[in-house]
Amino acid sequence: MFNTMTVTKAAAALIGSLLFLMLVSWFASSLYHVGFSGHVAEGEEIPQAYRIPVEGGDDAAAEEVVEEGPDFATLLASADAAAGEKSFGKCKSCHKLDGADAVGPHLNGVVGRDVAAAEGYNYSDAMAAHEGAWTPEELNAFITNPKAHVPGTKMAFAGIKSAEERANLVAYLQTTN
Ligand code: HEC
Repeated sequence: MFNTMTVTKAAAALIGSLLFLMLVSWFASSLYHVGFSGHVAEGEEIPQAYRIPVEGGDDAAAEEVVEEGPDFATLLASADAAAGEKSFGKCKSCHKLDGADAVGPHLNGVVGRDVAAAEGYNYSDAMAAHEGAWTPEELNAFITNPKAHVPGTKMAFAGIKSAEERANLVAYLQTTN
């Protein structure tokens, strides 16, 4: 017949093997579990490990920004000098067109003029060291972003973003000789 000891041993063996099985199944699921294990409410998106590029997605939008318009010579050929005269309002606070220097050097006749050539004007070292002449292309590059084109320039002007506006402005400056 059973004595207490036998029952206790049997119970201990059963509990022990159950515990062992639980541990094995826990270990196995932690090894092989795939996918999202967090709580997901209804309608909520399950986070994805990687993104699949879709046409018309972020990548396409980034490419559009890089796209270039017509080149500057083309824009200049059909530029509107009268509109450029209005844009020159942005330069007027520092630049004159009557041959007198102000905060900045006079700009009448600047198209084709050597860089830093207004006699008696005190250019920055950066501008004085900048070689070449103010061709329409050079002016275009400078006015786009002065501090990027001539690093160290003392011309405190952010630049004009619109290529069309820059072309109009250069067309106007060409008439100021
Ligand atoms: C806040 C004043 C200011 C404004 C606004 C400004 N400039 Fe200037 N500009 C200067 C100064 C100062 C210099 C001299 C830069 C140097 O020596 O580094 C300069 C230099 C230049 C030069 C070089 C001239 C040379 O003799 O080499 C050109 C070209 C020029 N500016 C064009 C423009 C145009 C076009 C605009 C308007 C879109 C403009 N600037 C707006 C202050 C200004």
